[in-house]
Amino acid sequence: MGITVITGGGRGIGLELARQLKGKGHAVLVACRTRTAELDALGVEIVDGLALDESRSHATLLAAIGDRKVDVLVHNAGLLAGGKFESEREEDIAAQFRINAMTPVLLTRALLPAIAQPAKIAIITSRMGSISDNSSGGYYGYRMSKAAVNAAGVSLAHDLRSREIAVALLHPGFVRTRMTGGQGHLEPAESARLLIERIEALTLENTGGFWHCDGTRLGW
Ligand SMILES: NC(=O)c1ccc[n+]([C@@H]2O[C@H](COP(=O)([O-])OP(=O)(O)OC[C@H]3O[C@@H](n4cnc5c(N)ncnc54)[C@H](OP(=O)(O)O)[C@@H]3O)[C@@H](O)[C@H]2O)c1
Repeated sequence: MGITVITGGGRGIGLELARQLKGKGHAVLVACRTRTAELDALGVEIVDGLALDESRSHATLLAAIGDRKVDVLVHNAGLLAGGKFESEREEDIAAQFRINAMTPVLLTRALLPAIAQPAKIAIITSRMGSISDNSSGGYYGYRMSKAAVNAAGVSLAHDLRSREIAVALLHPGFVRTRMTGGQGHLEPAESARLLIERIEALTLENTGGFWHCDGTRLGW
């Protein structure tokens, strides 16, 4: 059996994904910037101190994986910053673009030698990256970065099909985490449970799809 790598699992949705996937028997490795007591308590493997928007952290993670193979890779780490048209800062737009859009592509490429065949990649995106679903405006850096990662996920699905690697773009719902200031419709545990259902349902037949965690297909 290979390992399951989850990015940004110190808190929020990633922490719950780590807890539940470990509970299902996965050998979980959490790649995170900040270690937490809750994460330590799970007893999963942790590689911390990784600023995942920096390529050198990708090499560190690849080295930590060593000879093992990655069966499941979950790109969960993400950032929401600012949002108002009048005041969203250039550096916040850039920071969101780096971690939300560029990291899933660059980290996938860096880890490719360690990714099993077959394997699954889940990108935790957002329906805020859906152009057809945008009915309220704002959140420039966040929406642009999630729309961009949706585009990248479809390209990854095409480019990795011959390696038997399937790719899903998954919206976790509106989840009560630090990112939302504790607002939302779902607890992280419920979101993680549904996201795992989507990962389990991912195949090369449906690769490249964009789903709500409840299984509904979302528009681009
Ligand atoms: N919550 C929602 O309603 C919602 C809705 C749609 C999509 N999402 C997406 O779901 C994912 C998880 O979000 P969440 O709600 O669980 O948010 P969260 O509680 O704010 O957690 C975000 C995680 O990402 C990590 N992270 C951010 N930037 C990083 C970087 N440069 N390098 C390494 N790690 C970094 C954080 O690590 P640190 O602790 O080190 O900062 C943290 O572990 C994100 O991709 C988010 O966009 C969430």
